[in-house]
Amino acid sequence: MPRHNIILTGFMGTGKTTLGRLLAKRIDYDFVDTDTLIEEQTGLSIAKLFETRGETAFRKLEADLVEDLALKEGQVLATGGGLVLNPHNVKVLAATGHIICLTAAPEDILARVSQQQNLRPLLSEKDPQTKINELLRQRDTVYKQFPQLSTSAQTLEQLIDKLLKLIDALPSPGAVSL
Ligand code: S3P
Repeated sequence: MPRHNIILTGFMGTGKTTLGRLLAKRIDYDFVDTDTLIEEQTGLSIAKLFETRGETAFRKLEADLVEDLALKEGQVLATGGGLVLNPHNVKVLAATGHIICLTAAPEDILARVSQQQNLRPLLSEKDPQTKINELLRQRDTVYKQFPQLSTSAQTLEQLIDKLLKLIDALPSPGAVSL
């Protein structure tokens, strides 16, 4: 049986890492977080990486990582929220499994990222809520190409159940509909 990857994407603070880790445990898959891997590879935090090398260099590291990850199966991948903005990354990952987009209310996103320790360079602005709304608008079409699951106002258990049902209902990756 192929162990298709499960790729969780979506905006910052939508719960990709938290849910992804739980899901991987539940289905006995490996868990991989692309930001964490990049931090390990470079020895720099994402914030420091943006500051010292810039966003373009970070996006290149993401794209290189995608090529490596696509060689393996049986993984739950939590991607950085901007990784799917590169259509090539989407194409490569979609061939290995299911891409699912987590969503959350913009106010929940701000509340969650404000509580977390990892700094989001794209949101380090005077008015992060406005920046979140603006980026959500800009990315809307990209995120909408994937099946979506809202993580607002639900328990982790409910979300895992919904995720598993959603995945079950999806056609096999690479399947051709006649
Ligand atoms: C980004 C999301 C972040 C991280 C970087 C850029 C984005 O990951 O990759 O700060 O462009 O949305 P998370 O979605 O895990 O916060």
